[in-house]
Amino acid sequence: MQTMLNSANVVPDEAGFRRAVEVLRAGGLAALPTETVYGLAADAANPLAVAKIYATKQRPQFNPLIAHVATLDQVQSIGKFNQLALLCAEKFWPGPLTLVLPYQGNAICDLARAGLDTIALRIPSHPAIRAVLSEYGGPLVAPSANRSGHVSATSAAHVAADFGNAIDIIIDGGPTEFGLESTIIDATTDIPVILREGAISVERLEKMLGRKIEHRNLYDLQNPSSPGQLSAHYATTTPLRLNAAHAEAGEALLAFGKPLAAKNAILNLSENSDLGEAAANLFAHLRALDETGAKTIAVMPVPDYGLGAAINDRLRRAALGSNQ
Ligand code: TXA
Ligand code: MG
Repeated sequence: MQTMLNSANVVPDEAGFRRAVEVLRAGGLAALPTETVYGLAADAANPLAVAKIYATKQRPQFNPLIAHVATLDQVQSIGKFNQLALLCAEKFWPGPLTLVLPYQGNAICDLARAGLDTIALRIPSHPAIRAVLSEYGGPLVAPSANRSGHVSATSAAHVAADFGNAIDIIIDGGPTEFGLESTIIDATTDIPVILREGAISVERLEKMLGRKIEHRNLYDLQNPSSPGQLSAHYATTTPLRLNAAHAEAGEALLAFGKPLAAKNAILNLSENSDLGEAAANLFAHLRALDETGAKTIAVMPVPDYGLGAAINDRLRRAALGSNQ
């Protein structure tokens, strides 16, 4: 079902995709659903359009953006693929994996790369962004479509709540499938390094690639290898209390599995303790509980394996952000 939130919202059909392409060609911003979270897309080659992304998101620094591309041919003209990168592409694209590779060519403007000589690339699987990419014909940069530091957007309503009419068009593709951002791997050398946990679990990556994968310290604030790893991120206004064993008076509860007793609002990430379902619900539930007026959101423990590791990463950083 489509929710018409403002004049910018359109349905994901041919006419909607064409309008999005017109907006992008004119240097505007289009929010597009992907299989992970909604992205705020702009022409990757147009620095003025890219500058609008930074301004609209209020990113405090020029944090480099992920380029989304339709085909393997195109992506290979932008990033330099080694054996590892080719294997990752073969196993996981189209899908929620981002590869950081040495940059080549001139398809992505300096501002989108924040001046780096590497580029983050992904071929998404969601039919709406794929349709826009094919019709557009070139790469689109798209960070998550949320105000900087805020919880990522997993529905068109979230995008509209963060940006209102400050963006030109929102394609409403309903709630996103994974609900967590893509997993980011540095594949600039033949030794894979995870820079951000995400929709593909470490266990799955290791199994598909047949090797152990190094993990860079996510909380290395002195030298964050992926700038978005700065710890305070994904913040709610309401403080989070993690690993709650009970809910106090005045607290809302973000449950996982069998819920604790609570007097206020309760939302359950997954009653059946399904980590995939929990990932898909995470950002929507955080946003909803943030609006209940509770003094704190008590968060029940989530197991730290599979997608649970990425969920816990987002929760820890949301907890840091809201306490600042
Ligand atoms: O699932 C996703 O990845 C979503 C959808 C829209 O595709 N996008 C997303 O973008 O999460 P964003 O901008 O919110 O996060 C991208 C992360 C940032 O932490 C950024 O610092 C990192 O990717 N990044 C981008 N280019 C990089 C590079 N060359 N080297 C290291 N990290 C990079
Ligand atoms: Mg983001």
